[in-house]
Amino acid sequence: MLINRPPDIPTSEITEESLYTTRREFLLAAGFGAAAVGGLLPFSRTALPWGRGPDDDKLTPFEDIAGYNNFYEFGTGKDDPARNAGTLRTRPWKVEIAGEVATPAAYDLDDLLRGLTPEEHVYRHRCVEAWSMVVPWLGIPLGRLIDRLEPTSRAKYVEFTTLFDPAQMPGQQRGILDWPYVEALRMDEARHPLTLLVTGLYGKPLPNQNGAPLRLVVPWKYGFKGGKSIVRIRLLERQPATTWNIAAPDEYGFYANVNPEVDHPRWSQARERRIGEFFKRKTLPFNGYAPQVASLYAGLDLRKNF
Ligand code: MTE
Repeated sequence: MLINRPPDIPTSEITEESLYTTRREFLLAAGFGAAAVGGLLPFSRTALPWGRGPDDDKLTPFEDIAGYNNFYEFGTGKDDPARNAGTLRTRPWKVEIAGEVATPAAYDLDDLLRGLTPEEHVYRHRCVEAWSMVVPWLGIPLGRLIDRLEPTSRAKYVEFTTLFDPAQMPGQQRGILDWPYVEALRMDEARHPLTLLVTGLYGKPLPNQNGAPLRLVVPWKYGFKGGKSIVRIRLLERQPATTWNIAAPDEYGFYANVNPEVDHPRWSQARERRIGEFFKRKTLPFNGYAPQVASLYAGLDLRKNF
């Protein structure tokens, strides 16, 4: 099921013109993904006519996206991950598929994703710490992988687990969090077309500090839902425990939907500082994605289910 190989597209056949359209969310065409996942890039970043984000947001420069990170496995300072994540070996990379699926097994990442073409999606990215960015992610809508895994009728949640290897991830030698880092989504959130399994940004393979080789991005949720360097995807009947919810249940809920009306107990969530900007801007409900996702939570009290 997972190892059907599509015909490979030689990089020589991928032209710059074929990669771009002017559409706002999707800029990439078929073929580029396989090259990016394998680290073979048919062009340089600077040559690219990058689009802008939702509502014409200006893209955050690559240097900021890859230089200002949260990845506690490599330290708690914002510049620690860029400095320290060079110890992470991202190939070969195995991903265990477990739980309520037709064929639980460990797959080589390249086999798991083969034939699923990454697309570019420019998303707002907002951290619970009230900073934000606009990022041209390169990723595969998670729903496409879930379809491929053939979930059983009992699969109601999807859990994502980060690598646990204190030798490669020195931050794990300290008990800052309950390692390994775990995040999870409800099945309808996981299948939503905005939810991405990300393999790159700005048309390059994902830098280690951003969660190489595979991380989750859910643009209407606080950034902490985006688990990095994923080694296990588990489909479950019951809602699993997640790292930040275990660490501080009063501060970090399971849903973690961006909500300017529900403050973090220690600071406001009403405004945010876009990296590179001086004045703070208003935070939007669901990070600006309410038209696409608010219906997922109809009838749910978002103050209780924060
Ligand atoms: N994933 C792991 N494994 N470890 C982490 O510390 N931090 C989270 C999330 N994913 C984190 C993680 C938080 S708090 C945020 S805001 C985002 O990653 C940051 O993603 P970025 O560094 O690519 O901006």
